[in-house]
Amino acid sequence: MMPDANVSMSQSSTHKRRRGSFRNRIAFYLLAIGSACGLGNIWRFPYVVGENGGGAFLLVYIFLSLTIGLSVLIAELIMGRTNEASLLKITRKVSVQNKKSFFWFGRLSLFISLVILAYYSVISGWVLHFLTQFLVGLFRSDRMHYLGNISMNVLNENGLLQFALASVHLLICGFIVLRGVTERFEKILTAVLPLFGILVFLILTRSLSLPSSPEVLRFLFYPDFSKLNLTSLGHAMGHVLFTLSLGMGVLVTFGSYFKEDEHLPTLGVRVTLVDTIISIVAVLMIFPIAFSISNKPLTDPSLLFEALPQLFLKIEYGEYFGLAFFLCLWVAALNASIALLETLISNLSDRFQQANRFSAAWLVILVTLFLTVFPAFSGTLFKNIKLLNQSLIENLDSVLINYLLPISVLGMIIIFFKSINEIDYKEKFVNESSESSQMLVKNWIWVLKWLAPFLIILGLILQFFSVIKNSFLK
Ligand code: TRP
Repeated sequence: MMPDANVSMSQSSTHKRRRGSFRNRIAFYLLAIGSACGLGNIWRFPYVVGENGGGAFLLVYIFLSLTIGLSVLIAELIMGRTNEASLLKITRKVSVQNKKSFFWFGRLSLFISLVILAYYSVISGWVLHFLTQFLVGLFRSDRMHYLGNISMNVLNENGLLQFALASVHLLICGFIVLRGVTERFEKILTAVLPLFGILVFLILTRSLSLPSSPEVLRFLFYPDFSKLNLTSLGHAMGHVLFTLSLGMGVLVTFGSYFKEDEHLPTLGVRVTLVDTIISIVAVLMIFPIAFSISNKPLTDPSLLFEALPQLFLKIEYGEYFGLAFFLCLWVAALNASIALLETLISNLSDRFQQANRFSAAWLVILVTLFLTVFPAFSGTLFKNIKLLNQSLIENLDSVLINYLLPISVLGMIIIFFKSINEIDYKEKFVNESSESSQMLVKNWIWVLKWLAPFLIILGLILQFFSVIKNSFLK
């Protein structure tokens, strides 16, 4: 969870959490990893891989994650720590120093956080729906029959239900943040995440024993490069940035509360590795089930929700597994939503000093609630709003993650170099006890200065071409 850099309560909890003991350190890592791992890994990644043709896309994704994702992640953390401020404050400082309007980047990234929070709440609402279905199922005599019938259809046909669930999710986040019970929630999270890991591992082994798994392994590990197209680079880039929570100022705030003795690049490497591994595990867990279903939903956002319950129905005590799985997933989603909410609140109260935390929080919650209307009613009230043959929610996802997020990260890189001088960032990166960091510092800077901007811009241009091709050249 994201502690708020401005709030003394959070700062004192930060001090409490400062290393020292091994236990604290583990909790600390779990928190960092917790903000990266969420619906992006378990829900979004599998269908994005399905949509983009499997193995070749997976390779591009892994490459981008370990180069650009990792470098930007470290840069955001170092930027937060060196400036000891939230993103909006840093961009204003840089703007004043350079007499240029860099603050637009700060605003863009907060705008993205806000809309992503709304979108994320709707998907968390879907998780909540499956969670309650499994819970209700336990109390019914026709349990298996009941669970056999749960599907996305109920949600797809009922925008109001989606909106209601998203609202419940958001209000719970608001409650946790405003009641100052984030510490208690963190404790729950540190218990839930390892449990989630074990659960995923068990489901994975069962799933890989399905007869469809050789076909899945071929699909994922024999890259067919002819499947790559104009949008592949942009989609992989967007997802890397999203899954590592980059481009939204979240890690900047996070970095501002880390203390000097934590080596941020090491933390960055571990978070990136764990996040990438979890994404791959999620794909391996879900695809064998999806491949066994006659009309595979591989390329659809409903993939996770259509596939997993099928497996739970087949295994002994599956209903309990289902319940536990969706509960853990929802806690992870809550954690991510709280991190987004905290960042928005802390930036707002940073910017408008007279605004207290309470009103800032309510403002963010109300605006987000309003924004959830669009994704929630995308399949019902707004079903006729189509662009490029895609529904409102699909367009929202694509514009936010594949276009705006990379642009925001470009801004973040510029702000990074403008807000910190070379000696400072090198010093923060290099750790005397780690020789590799002295060798890697040059590569890190090269990726940030050249590779990341080049591939981000190339990805954007190629996607743009693809839009033009699809809309005019048909
Ligand atoms: N990385 C999160 C996931 O994979 C999603 C996310 C994006 C996020 N930006 C964030 C979470 C900011 C917390 C804060 O699900």
